[in-house]
Order: sequence, then structure tokens, then C-alpha cells
Amino acid sequence: MKSMFRIALVDPNDSSRGMLKKLLLGIDIVWLEAESSRYEFFPDVVVQTQPDIALVAIDADPTAGLQLVAKIVHDLPHCNVFVTSSSQEGSLILQAIRNGAKEFLNSPLKIDDFLAAIDRIRLQKGGQSGESHSKPTQIITVCGVSGGVGCTSLSINLACALAQRDSNTVAIIDLDLAMGDADVWLDIIPDYTIQDVAENITRLDYSLLKRSLTKHDSGPCLLPRPVEIEDRAPITPDELKRVISLLKSTFSHLIIDVSKSYNPLDVAALEIADSIVVVTQLDLPCLRNVVRLLQFLERYEKLISKVKVVVNRMGLDETQISLNKATETIGREIFFQLPNDYATMVESRNNGVPLIVQAPKGKLTRAFEQFAILLDGQVTEETTSEEAKKKRGLFSFLGGAPK
Ligand SMILES: Nc1ncnc2c1ncn2[C@@H]1O[C@H](COP(=O)(O)OP(=O)(O)OP(=O)(O)O)[C@@H](O)[C@H]1O
Ligand SMILES: [Mg+2]
Repeated sequence: MKSMFRIALVDPNDSSRGMLKKLLLGIDIVWLEAESSRYEFFPDVVVQTQPDIALVAIDADPTAGLQLVAKIVHDLPHCNVFVTSSSQEGSLILQAIRNGAKEFLNSPLKIDDFLAAIDRIRLQKGGQSGESHSKPTQIITVCGVSGGVGCTSLSINLACALAQRDSNTVAIIDLDLAMGDADVWLDIIPDYTIQDVAENITRLDYSLLKRSLTKHDSGPCLLPRPVEIEDRAPITPDELKRVISLLKSTFSHLIIDVSKSYNPLDVAALEIADSIVVVTQLDLPCLRNVVRLLQFLERYEKLISKVKVVVNRMGLDETQISLNKATETIGREIFFQLPNDYATMVESRNNGVPLIVQAPKGKLTRAFEQFAILLDGQVTEETTSEEAKKKRGLFSFLGGAPK
């Protein structure tokens, strides 16, 4: 998981606090957990929010500011206290360090200085806990080339397969805001949706976001689509990116099921993805749309290289186009094939029970498990294309022989 740093800020000066806040909100590895304009209330704030970093701007009252540093260090020894001041006076810096501040940063704060300070903290954390060896969060955005092609069933069952590993923590984000049905597949009646998250975005903290997710018994958490259909998206692309940044601090895998309208929100979800899974079936309209979608993705920087085309419902009927022909038409390899098993899939959906529970030994369930292994390995270990080809060869029996 990528380290996110949760920060609490105190600065009695409204204007410099505003500037600090703006700077912090622009850094994606930082989550502004709390802000305060009063030194005297700040110890309670940090005890309640338990931030990784307490940023104390001391110019408003250096003596009170430095006393506050000592108090935070005493009350919350694991919190890293950063001091910022426009003064370069040696005695002030010395006192701040003696009181336990980890960093003394020039005000107005520069982003490079702040990031360098964070890096030093990260190095210390890595050295102590080995956190630097933990896996970075994988964001897998699932998109389709036609309605009903299998995006949601893939998102849910891939998430469940990934969640089988104890070391993985998985969340599904239903970004099909109008017609999403991920909650149905998991038989979840959510208390909160992505709408609540968006409405509280300015005061969103870690615990509120966690409360907005519903955990399913089979492992993954779900952030569902809004209850009502609205004529405008409840969340902006930038807000989505902030939410994803915060989720990255908790989850090893985020699976985003986007709509098929390729609106700015969907594109944002494609941009933040490590892998873009393009789901298709082997019929002419689908393959034509794969070509059109790939052309669309080519217009954006760095999107096309993340694409992995997955053929769903292999062996559906005799009229299916052959894999060779499909590869030729779309001009790239098929990353994975999922077999057709309508009876099992539809029963799983109607019962609101994922395949891993509905049919643990089924062909389709095993295929999802192999898909999860391949995708996880590919993304995290940069498996060479030769190895990947071998694996695909091994697993392709699950999807039926190529025609
Ligand atoms: N591998 C499969 N074998 C058989 N049936 C499948 C398979 N994958 C999906 N289906 C069926 O296809 C239908 C559509 O699947 P799903 O809802 O996952 O597609 P979607 O792309 O999310 O659709 P939408 O465009 O509505 O969002 C479902 O009824 C599901 O049971
Ligand atoms: Mg869907």
C-alpha cells in the first residue's frame, strides 16, 4: 500500500492557514484530517484524530506554539510534529527541536521542502517497520464495450478472488452512478453511498470514509452508487481522486466499475488506474467497440499501456468470432478469457452471493482465481511478457480452446 500521511494543522492566522491548507490539499499522499485556528484546542484535536503529522505554524505566538509542540510530543509520541515559521532564529529552531519537533520548515512553506520532510519520515518509518516493502495499492478500473458485457460480475468476482488472500484488503467502487448494481450482486443494502462521501468531501476524514463502505462477508468492501438517479454527477473527478487517495492508505486493491458513457468521471478513474481491464465478448459489435475504445484511450497520455483486454463468456455459442480473428481485429493480445457459465452466474446474481460462495469449485470461480493471480502478479511484479504468455497458456484451458 502506498503510504498516505494524515495531517492535522494548526495556525491561528487565517490567511497563512488558508495557504497551508491549499498546499496540503494539492498533495496526493497527504490527507488533511483536521485543521484548527486555536493552539489551546489542538491537543484534543490530535488525540481524537491521531494524525501521522501535526503541522504547527508558530508565527502567531512562538512561545505558545513551542509549548504546544512539547505537549503533542508528550501526548502522542507516534505523531511527527512539523513546525513552520518565517523566523530563522537559531534559538527558536533549537527550542523546537528540543521540544521534539521532527522538522522546522520555512514559512511560507514550499511544496518541495514539505515533500522532502515527508520523505525523511517515510524513510524512518520504512526502517522501523519495514513498511517500505509493503505492496503499493493496485487500482484496477473495469470498463466495457457494450451493455451487459460482464463488467460488474467481473469486478465483484475478481474482488472476492483477490480478497481470499489474507494480505489483501479490497474495495469495490461502483462508479456506474445511474445504473450500477454492484450492491445487488453482493446483496448489500448500504447505509451510505458515494453520494454521502461526496457531500462530506470537505470534512471527510478517515473514519467517515470507512463508515461509508459496507464490508461483505466474503471479504471486499463496497462503496455503492447513489440511491437516486440524479441529472448531474454527485462527485467531481478531482473529488474522486481525493477519495481514492484516502482509500489507498487502507486497501491493497481498489476495483472501480465505471459506467459505459466514458464521461469525465470515468476517465478520471481510468487515469488513476494501474490496470484498465477492458471487458469484451467475441461478437462483431463488441470487437468494433474495442477498437473504438482503444482509439479513444490513445488520446490520453499513459492510458493505452495499462489496457488488458479480457474476453468474457468464452464458448457462448457457435457464432462467436475466433480468438485469432479477434486478436487480429483489435491489434493486441487477449490478456485473459473467462468461460461462459450463465446458469451459475445468474444464480449467483439472483442470490446476491459471489461465485466463491455460490460455486467454490466451479470452472468460472477457478478462472476468476487464476485471473486474480495473473493480474496481481502482473501489476506488482512486472512479470515479463514471456512469463505472462506461459501463464496465459496454462490458464487458457479454463476459457475453452481458442477457435
Ligand atoms: N462469464 C459469464 N458467463 C455467463 N454469464 C455471464 C458471464 N458474465 C456475465 N454474465 C451475465 O451477463 C449479464 C450481465 O453481466 P454484468 O451485469 O456483469 O454486465 P455489465 O457489463 O456490468 O452490465 P451493465 O452494462 O448493465 O453495467 C448478467 O446476467 C450475468 O449473469
Ligand atoms: Mg454493470
